[in-house]
Amino acid sequence: MTAPLQNDRFLRALRREPVDRTPVWLMRQAGRYLPEYRATRKQAGSFLAMAKNPDLACEVTLQPLRRFDLDAAILFSDILTIPDAMGLGLYFVEGEGPKFERTVRSAEDAARLSVPDMETELRYVMDAVRVIRRELDGKVPLIGFSGSPWTLACYMVEGGGSKDFARIKAMALNDPDTLHRLLSVNADAVVAYLSAQRDAGAQALQVFDTWGGVLSPAMYREFSLPYLQRIADALGRDAATAAGADAGRVPLILFGKGTAAYLEALAATGADAIGVDWLVELGEAVRRTQGRVALQGNLDPATLYGEPEAIVREVRRALDSYRDGNGGSREGHVFNLGHGMSPDMNPDHVAVLVDEVHAYSAR
Ligand code: CP3
Repeated sequence: MTAPLQNDRFLRALRREPVDRTPVWLMRQAGRYLPEYRATRKQAGSFLAMAKNPDLACEVTLQPLRRFDLDAAILFSDILTIPDAMGLGLYFVEGEGPKFERTVRSAEDAARLSVPDMETELRYVMDAVRVIRRELDGKVPLIGFSGSPWTLACYMVEGGGSKDFARIKAMALNDPDTLHRLLSVNADAVVAYLSAQRDAGAQALQVFDTWGGVLSPAMYREFSLPYLQRIADALGRDAATAAGADAGRVPLILFGKGTAAYLEALAATGADAIGVDWLVELGEAVRRTQGRVALQGNLDPATLYGEPEAIVREVRRALDSYRDGNGGSREGHVFNLGHGMSPDMNPDHVAVLVDEVHAYSAR
């Protein structure tokens, strides 16, 4: 038996139901800015060893919740677990970010890929979800996540992070069939991965399309959006056909960076919420999507480098912008940053942000 949820603000906001105060969580809320995270990572030996150990993954998931009054937990893992399980060999070089031993650059490379088995190759992720749900004991809901097919493909083709995405854009231009084959396997894997996380106990699901915004509009509509649509369709259909008393719909959040131009299109996918970065005013975003989806965001993460007074001011500005665009109501807003936190951020500033979201939105 799972404990009843003590704080359902986040899930209520995703359903656009009234809440007593605006819920808040932060992308990358577990990470190197916390000394206790650095201690656990040292104990594990590396980031990957920590992520692959369900008890340590649970420990770092809970660390930010012990410090801050957050309304959701997010599974501690990484988006690159899928290509790693496909056999590409993920590793991290200190200061250089993620890398793959093998890349996907030809039709033959793409043809070799298949959807990993979720309860064997990615069992450690599902085990982490189960352990975290047990340890959370109903305190707040747990978010599961995946990268988008396009964002995963960026790392798989480039072999790591990239500034110009030269190789994958060349593939889009010169060999679109191969790229579509890669994106298609990725989409099937993402659907299986998110479904397995949901079945293991994740109570909301977020897709990170971190690199959607590097595409031209025509390319975004060819190489990213249709695969997000496939995910929304598959998860929506699953929920509709699932049997039993527990078969409630697990909400889907589509986060994109630099993709505010496609807000209407994203809202039309059937996703429950759209995550937005700080390049769009929340008031404008809510006017453009009015009533169709919840919105999550969207403070510039760099706001956390400001002094507490500046953080308070910016939090209030974002909350007011959403409310004013939404006809005076705060319903349907999940407060977050517009992208993830950085290692050099001050934990005390995070407390200021979280507490101000609650205090100001309760008025
Ligand atoms: O939000 C959370 O607290 C949950 C954990 C989480 C991580 N990665 C942990 C992590 C989530 C949701 C991710 C997603 C992720 N990973 C994305 C999409 C979101 C985004 O930020 O755009 C991307 C693009 C990745 C790929 C990746 N993994 C990068 C670019 C890095 C950083 C490399 C570096 O050295 O800074 C990682 C590693 C990683 N994933 C870290 C964390 C906390 C840092 C690892 C460490 O401890 O050194």
